[in-house]
Amino acid sequence: MKICVLAGDGIGPEIVAEALRVLDVLRRDGLALEIEPALLGGCAVDAAGDPYPEATRALARAADAVLLGAVGGPKWDGLARELRPERGLLGIRKDLDLFANLRPALVYPELAGASALKAEVVAGLDILIVRELTGDIYFGQPRGIEVRNGERVGYNTMVYSESEIRRIARVAFDAAMKRNRRLCSVDKMNVLEATQLWRDVVIETAADYPAVELSHMLVDNAAMQLVRNPRQFDVIVTGNMFGDILSDEASMLTGSIGMLPSASLDAANKGLYEPIHGSAPDIAGRGVANPLATILSAAMMLRYTFGLADAADRIEKAVRQVLAQGYRTGDIYSPGTTRVDTRAMGDAVLAAM
Ligand code: IPM
Ligand code: MG
Repeated sequence: MKICVLAGDGIGPEIVAEALRVLDVLRRDGLALEIEPALLGGCAVDAAGDPYPEATRALARAADAVLLGAVGGPKWDGLARELRPERGLLGIRKDLDLFANLRPALVYPELAGASALKAEVVAGLDILIVRELTGDIYFGQPRGIEVRNGERVGYNTMVYSESEIRRIARVAFDAAMKRNRRLCSVDKMNVLEATQLWRDVVIETAADYPAVELSHMLVDNAAMQLVRNPRQFDVIVTGNMFGDILSDEASMLTGSIGMLPSASLDAANKGLYEPIHGSAPDIAGRGVANPLATILSAAMMLRYTFGLADAADRIEKAVRQVLAQGYRTGDIYSPGTTRVDTRAMGDAVLAAM
């Protein structure tokens, strides 16, 4: 099992180090995991002048899975668009055809009080957002900024083909079948043709999943319903841009963006796994970041790409145990719990394992 590890920028190296210690435990217990480090994002721009260098591309293509920390930071903000660290991330998603982005938003009982919403609104919350990741306005052509009639005009194109919609819809229906069998498809069909097609194709796909209860919601309403009554959702499926926005919103329901992992999968379950939070330049290098989202991303990798549910369960159980024991990094700290730094949180997970 070859894993390409991209620690990235900011807190990336610190949190990935803890996830690697967790994988080391599994390796010592007999799992044949091979780790290949490479550069992505700002560190790759600094070292190779390219946020997704050729060497990284080769390793990522040859690997079975990719584990990523985070990319970006103020240091690279002034760079041209093609050199921005985010380009590295978009580049690897597209290059590896990682069209299915799974973003769970889960409220851990011990952390319900950390939510921006009242604990009783979010207690027990368990949503899965399935975001299409390689299409939509993110990649649509034409795009650009040009002068028309003496003034600058900026434009992008929202575009989805039915095959792109069908394959992400299938991922979402399959996920719903393994959960509570409710799927809400989010679009803006009252205004945008591309999302009228989205709705039509999702409805067609539903014929193959009679056991799943399908509903549809316009994205503005979905944004509201997520804070009004988030527990009405089981699985949400939506396009790239709406999914970007709604998954950030959903993460805040849990009160702990430092806790949420994600998976981006291709058609053969090869995947890139990363915490949903960013590179947090404000705390980088201080050893205080929360490594749990990255550790949970490693668990998702074992579950989805390698089919090792037991190993994944072992990690997830260990994370629940350290929360129950009261260990908290600064982002999830509350009075009465034990404040720990990145390394000590990793130590606690290893001990629990
Ligand atoms: C995300 C991020 C990225 C996105 C950025 C960094 C390009 O916001 O993974 O949600 O917009 O997809
Ligand atoms: Mg985002």
